[in-house]
Amino acid sequence: MFPVSRPVNPTISLSKTSPQSLPVGQAVGARGIVKAFGAGDARTLALKGADFEAREGELHLIVGPSGCGKTTLLSVLAGTLASDEGEVQLFGTRLTGLSTSEVTRFRCRNIGFIFQQFNLIPTLSLVENVSVPLLLNGSGRREAEAKASERLQQVGLGGRERQLPTQLSGGQQQRVAIARALVHEPRLVICDEPTSALDSVTGHQIMDLLSGAARAPGRCVLIVTHDPRVYGYADRISEMEDGRVTGVHAGESLSSFIHSENRS
Ligand SMILES: Nc1ncnc2c1ncn2[C@@H]1O[C@H](COP(=O)(O)OP(=O)(O)OP(=O)(O)O)[C@@H](O)[C@H]1O
Ligand SMILES: [Mg+2]
Repeated sequence: MFPVSRPVNPTISLSKTSPQSLPVGQAVGARGIVKAFGAGDARTLALKGADFEAREGELHLIVGPSGCGKTTLLSVLAGTLASDEGEVQLFGTRLTGLSTSEVTRFRCRNIGFIFQQFNLIPTLSLVENVSVPLLLNGSGRREAEAKASERLQQVGLGGRERQLPTQLSGGQQQRVAIARALVHEPRLVICDEPTSALDSVTGHQIMDLLSGAARAPGRCVLIVTHDPRVYGYADRISEMEDGRVTGVHAGESLSSFIHSENRS
């Protein structure tokens, strides 16, 4: 178990919550998250007081119908989108209380992302794309590219390091995005539909990699998915509907949820 009294990032200990206020083993905690987009007639309330919790060492899926707020919730949890109301804690650090530059620093060090649209940099080679999180955290180019090459190998793209993202299929680009999310061994990996563009065999390989990243002390993987093939990898599933988390399944409730989803 990750010791809760150890600062997550010594450079931003200011907003660290007291150990007493952190439920033991909690990786992600969000309470009362409200987020609206637009104004007037065009206003959409994407999150309506969402509460969410994920624990250390778990692979946690977030499921729900299109438009229910899954991507918005992930963005708020990752600190890339400010909520209008509510509070987010990651590994005992209260994100809500940090300045923008502190959130950015925290994110670089502790979070790996796989976005719904992959977000690869088109002018950089694959190995350069995957190196980015390491370079941002102060690694030298040679060391970063060596680690990035290893990750590309793991996702089945060894030998293609110098190609550009535009030379790859959607599924291959998604695998580069996965390599980039894991390369700096972040505590929290956040994935929006990581297997949507992947065939069944590659999808399972990627889920094995993500499971490995989740099941270590002080780590957690959050995955938004519509893909019932990955439900069997989950330790816990949160169901969302209309801007809120409406159900959480673990243990026996998880088995019956997966069973009922696979039948429908
Ligand atoms: N930047 C934005 N501007 C305006 N409305 C937005 C924006 N982002 C999301 N929304 C709206 O907020 C709601 C929630 O969107 P969100 O993308 O979080 O849904 P989702 O559950 O991820 O859907 P999907 O499964 O289709 O990806 C939707 O009604 C969407 O139209
Ligand atoms: Mg989405």
